[in-house]
Amino acid sequence: MTDTMSRYLTEDATSTPLAEAALKHAFLELEGDTSGHDPYHIVRVFRMAQRLAKTESADLETVELIAALHDVKDFKFTGDDMSGAREAERWLLEQGASSELAELVSGNIAGISFKGAGTETKPLTIEGKCVQDADRLDAIGAIGVARCFAYGGTKDRPIHDPATVIAHHSTTDQYLKHQGTSINHFYEKLLLLKDRLNTETAKQIAVERHAFMEAYLQQFYNEWDAQA
Ligand code: NI
Repeated sequence: MTDTMSRYLTEDATSTPLAEAALKHAFLELEGDTSGHDPYHIVRVFRMAQRLAKTESADLETVELIAALHDVKDFKFTGDDMSGAREAERWLLEQGASSELAELVSGNIAGISFKGAGTETKPLTIEGKCVQDADRLDAIGAIGVARCFAYGGTKDRPIHDPATVIAHHSTTDQYLKHQGTSINHFYEKLLLLKDRLNTETAKQIAVERHAFMEAYLQQFYNEWDAQA
């Protein structure tokens, strides 16, 4: 295992050398990120996606490749909603992967990201569905709360402003340009995710994480109003 790998992973965790190379590539690309998309986000998504792949009998290497590469050159960094998919395909072909595998992985990456409450997502294979669920689970619960405020900070969003209304976006463009608050982000995205999961296992895991966020928000408002 390389130094970059061992820094983020303590055990041999990939099914193939190509999946290990994809993880290393993602770690190098995302190192230093403070928006909640750092290498440990990739590690968490990767492990949860592996868990879901087993219960769904999905192809493990494909799941691992989608998980490893899903945030590399993503639209949230580039503003281009196909840049992540293009980069995944380019990188896989450069590594000698077949064009079928490169297209399968990049097609799923194109369909994974959440781009606003009313926008259409592309059909995913079961491998993409496992990674989408793992990525969405990492956006909710205790880690989701932490990532929400970290992301808001990088976007210059206030923590909370009761005067700012909650928005629901019908286009990717509106979603990307929206300047809301971190607390509103719970209502605009995070509290919607439990009903947007694909697999039964992820839906079960989401129950506790969702309840935690609701309890967190209640405590937040109680403290805001000097009631707790
Ligand atoms: Ni992600």
